[in-house]
Amino acid sequence: MNSAEKTIDYKAIIESIYNTIASEENKGTIATYIPELAKVDAANFGVCLLTRNNEEYGVGNWQTKFSIQSISKVLSLSLAYQIFGDKIWDRVDVEPSGTAFNSLVQLESDMGIPRNPFMNSGAMVICDMLVSYYENPKEDFLKAIRELCHSSEINYSETVAISEASVGYRNKALCNFIKSFGNIENEPEEVLDFYFHMCSIEMSCQELSRVFMFLANPNFTTSKGKKVLNLSKTKRVNAIMQTCGFYDESGEFSFRVGLPGKSGVGGGIVAIHPEKYCITVWSPKLNEKGNSYRGMKFLEAFTTETEQSIF
Ligand code: DON
Repeated sequence: MNSAEKTIDYKAIIESIYNTIASEENKGTIATYIPELAKVDAANFGVCLLTRNNEEYGVGNWQTKFSIQSISKVLSLSLAYQIFGDKIWDRVDVEPSGTAFNSLVQLESDMGIPRNPFMNSGAMVICDMLVSYYENPKEDFLKAIRELCHSSEINYSETVAISEASVGYRNKALCNFIKSFGNIENEPEEVLDFYFHMCSIEMSCQELSRVFMFLANPNFTTSKGKKVLNLSKTKRVNAIMQTCGFYDESGEFSFRVGLPGKSGVGGGIVAIHPEKYCITVWSPKLNEKGNSYRGMKFLEAFTTETEQSIF
């Protein structure tokens, strides 16, 4: 750490940005296509920064659990990468799609190989790998996430999973379409049930910052004392977050924030400074690309004021 870094007062910076943004108009709209998510109070706003030295700073609703949705796709990718290694890239690509998260359009010409593991299609292929691998997929996956988080307090929301399944026509179409190309091994119903549950996991900003530390700290170990990914795999997961974590707004996030990150339609965003910290922001109102309006704004101000980004 150089002397300039030592002088950064993260607590003061976080509180000051939080207060400024909280006093401004909260633009955007809450996700309503999953009926249960529409019930969340749009005024929620929380931030948690966890540094590699274990300094933790929280503000607002940083300890309130929310639906992590697509943020879970980084966790499923990381576990599948740990289990299967580079074989996973035979079934899912690492290219930004330039399309929305739930897009079907490229799958036909790409012969059922999704552009990246963070689009719904790619996440389903990763889910299929985990369903094939685990004896009791939903139980075993949750156990792995609890070990990553060092907490037994992480759960699926059955209500959210059922709510999404009840209207999940597009995801059902995606999974069946990929299956028609032979890139889903299991029955689509089982893969979709796993996928909807994975997306329904509830965590707070504090828990997310803790669970994502394996991407910021090479010395991180799970509650069982195990390493998650080696340095090379950690670099690759961060690289995919950088290029694909925000769908067709990935370029904008890179441009404004300059960190690898991942959003979810529950309004959460996790961003990683490899080697320094993990920061999570939650504010349910989304911009037109499906990413948290205040989350993007907060992180842009944070990397600008700290002058810390990967670029
Ligand atoms: O499949 C879906 O549509 C949701 N379960 C997850 C989408 C999502 O979080 C997109 N991220 N911004």
